[in-house]
Amino acid sequence: MKTTLQSGNAAAVEAELLVVFTTDAATGKDAKPEIILLTDEGGIKQASSPFLGTGEFSSNSNETLLLHAPQGLKAKRLLLVGLGKAAKATFHDVRKAAGTAVRFAKPRKLRELAVLAPAGSAFDPAATARAIAEGAILADFDPDTYRSDRKDQSIQSLTVVAPKTAETGFNEGVIIAESQNFTRSLVNEPGNYLTPAIFGKKAAEMAREFGLKCEVYGAEKLHELKMGAFWSVAQGSDEPPALIVITYEPESVPEGPVLGLVGKGITFDTGGISIKPSDNMEKMKYDMAGGAAMIGAMRAIAQLKPAVKVIAVVCATENMPSGKAQKPGDVQIAMSGKSIEIINTDAEGRLVLADGLAYAKQLGATHLIDAATLTGAVAIALGQLNAGAFSNDEETYQRFRNAVDRSGERFWRLPLDEDYRDLIRSDIADIKNTGGRYGGAITAAMFLKEFAEDTPWIHLDIASMAWLDDTKPWTAKGPTGVGMRSIVEWVRSFSR
Ligand code: BES
Ligand code: MN
Ligand code: ZN
Repeated sequence: MKTTLQSGNAAAVEAELLVVFTTDAATGKDAKPEIILLTDEGGIKQASSPFLGTGEFSSNSNETLLLHAPQGLKAKRLLLVGLGKAAKATFHDVRKAAGTAVRFAKPRKLRELAVLAPAGSAFDPAATARAIAEGAILADFDPDTYRSDRKDQSIQSLTVVAPKTAETGFNEGVIIAESQNFTRSLVNEPGNYLTPAIFGKKAAEMAREFGLKCEVYGAEKLHELKMGAFWSVAQGSDEPPALIVITYEPESVPEGPVLGLVGKGITFDTGGISIKPSDNMEKMKYDMAGGAAMIGAMRAIAQLKPAVKVIAVVCATENMPSGKAQKPGDVQIAMSGKSIEIINTDAEGRLVLADGLAYAKQLGATHLIDAATLTGAVAIALGQLNAGAFSNDEETYQRFRNAVDRSGERFWRLPLDEDYRDLIRSDIADIKNTGGRYGGAITAAMFLKEFAEDTPWIHLDIASMAWLDDTKPWTAKGPTGVGMRSIVEWVRSFSR
């Protein structure tokens, strides 16, 4: 997609489809909608006014109204997209609405889009232009890569009409959304096309393209580092594991924090000997979404160039049952030296992350963030509208909270009180890898906390959000790339 920011009059922009946003200023539940066009341009107001009082359009969130051959405009069509109630609309609604416009255009073979950035005090120009770029590029993604009848419906050009001051925000939005789509394309790959080694190869290719340092290690390195927890999962598979390490070094800033981004990269999770039921098991190809989020974040970071050092560690392996697989009751020694009693081999994510966190610390990380499709329990707790966030440090968490306000993603904090530690006490070892029926997302996080130790740390359990089961007006179903944008914002906050 070719992307351009243009200032000036939208009425003069040539495009197959010009998109303009609207809100509803009416207050009170049953009040008739009072539609506001979010522009000062007379031409656009004139072209649309005959259709605004007819009742055919209410400006609800992501509602659309298409006008053909709009009078006085260069564009061939004008699409109004609703942002909902005026009092509540923010640039986060604009992200979705821009996506809705793209999803509207794609099946109708409209390839050239112009989007007029909304005017008004609720819409900071830079944040809004960024949101439009993000929403449009994210909406251009479709997961049907292996269909022989795949139609290439992608948008060829996107012109955002916005003031010059919006340019930096716009450029950031393009970088971030393209990187999020890179994450999604990795998550979308089936397990046979994305083995741990291929995952490593794709990470290395990305790193080369964007000037990052990248190393991909195999089983030998796991043994050398005494990563007994990571290896205990990898030992059951015929596919060799990959320990992926990507480093970003800013040009100046020799001292200061070092951020460790640790991702779960299970390219397929069968459950191992504690095997999963076959219903929905195919979905477990996305069990590397946390790792893919970190690799996508590094892709964006390489281009946004924040003044802070960042190291990503992704622990990639399959979780398979086999004659070599670990068994419930086995005891494993993690890289940190802690002993772990394996109760359930399907609680494998925390095992690979335990060593990933320890390794990131050994590489010098002063602050840690991990992302993982860690537990089904997080979806039981939060539904599929929020992902779980955990932290052992208030200041670091607050920084993340602020990052989420900018990214527009949805995370909800869950507790990590010390009392929960009792649930993962083992009779034979330092800790066991499951905590029973209740609070599954929390006991998984408590397990990780043992390996973050005193280092300020954030854990993101994205199992509830990494895969979307139903199409939305603004996005395709399938891999979401969740977490990546908030992680990038969190990293950038250390640079400010
Ligand atoms: N990868 C799964 C978690 C998961 C479930 C991700 C559904 C996405 C959708 C994880 O490895 C797992 O199997 N967790 C177990 C933990 C249990 C054995 C303590 C779970 O959630 O059932
Ligand atoms: Mn599992
Ligand atoms: Zn898993």
